[in-house]
Amino acid sequence: MGVGDRDEGFIELDGVEKVFDVRRKAGFLRRERHQVRAVDGIGFTVPRGEMVGYIGPNGAGKSTTIKMLTGILVPSGGRLRVAGIDPSRERTRLARRIGVVFGQRTTLWWDLPLRDSYGLVRRMYRIPDARYRANLERCVDLLDLGALLDVPVRQLSLGQRMRGDIAAALLHDPEVLYLDEPTIGLDVVSKAKVREFLREVNAERGTTVLLTTHDLTDIEQLCKRVMVIDHGRLVYDGGLDGLHAAGESERTLVVDLERELPPIEGVAGARTVKVEGPRQWLAFAAGQSAAPIVAAVAERYPLVDLSVREPDIEAVIAKMYAQRSGM
Ligand SMILES: Nc1ncnc2c1ncn2[C@@H]1O[C@H](COP(=O)(O)OP(=O)(O)O)[C@@H](O)[C@H]1O
Ligand SMILES: [Mg+2]
Repeated sequence: MGVGDRDEGFIELDGVEKVFDVRRKAGFLRRERHQVRAVDGIGFTVPRGEMVGYIGPNGAGKSTTIKMLTGILVPSGGRLRVAGIDPSRERTRLARRIGVVFGQRTTLWWDLPLRDSYGLVRRMYRIPDARYRANLERCVDLLDLGALLDVPVRQLSLGQRMRGDIAAALLHDPEVLYLDEPTIGLDVVSKAKVREFLREVNAERGTTVLLTTHDLTDIEQLCKRVMVIDHGRLVYDGGLDGLHAAGESERTLVVDLERELPPIEGVAGARTVKVEGPRQWLAFAAGQSAAPIVAAVAERYPLVDLSVREPDIEAVIAKMYAQRSGM
């Protein structure tokens, strides 16, 4: 056993639940109480230094999980530890070790230039001068904030503000970074910058990252491991490849034939799903090799060109949810 084993499970959840009591109007003067099980018995561990995706449809319980991991919300049941700390019991002590970014709202001071917001963050966390300057310089450089430091936050575009928020969350060198929809509403350029930055922070600092997102490209580009949550429960925890298998996803072989022909038939493991002139599309299981299928087509058809298309992860996940709700 190495020393690193101590860090196995830097973030640890076991049977974590969060139930909200909601009162809603049910006619004149009458109010009905009911409960929402936002998180319904979730367990997972994240080792130090990993960057994990946490995805699921709207209302699945992602933000609630993150709020419990920061200590903002107290779980209704189960056990939760971040860096050995029970978040809701020692929220302030934990705050020094984590950074949080909520895409939907800013933690920056609306009327202040970014630079002043950062100054406040520095005092709040009592960040030593040299370290503060080094961290700020690095963030400014990588997130391209140089021209924005003296602009009041209210005048920043969403993408600029988000980059500003991410920098603010990292000035105190947190060991863990939670990102709740950090790319929501961002333009392509800002998205790319944010992704590149997160990759660097994770690789160079070994910062543990939990990333919630609607944009599956974020996950594909950043995370080897992904957890899928639906109705407050973890329905998948593993690699992206496995996600394709779990969603029974398919790859597509696109072939160009010499001329227009009837749909290709009799190729084991593949079925023709589309024909457009001389071009035909054959779907086959994502886990299967394309080679025997190509060979089988080439043997009997005048093949001119071909390409293989990877499964679309959005389709895979949609299928996964559909399968579950069909149960
Ligand atoms: N403060 C709250 N009071 C009552 N219900 C809540 C509260 N916060 C979240 N919920 C409910 O809990 C469920 C999960 O919400 P949330 O964690 O925000 O989902 P997600 O971030 O995955 O979209 C939803 O049904 C939501 O309406
Ligand atoms: Mg949310």
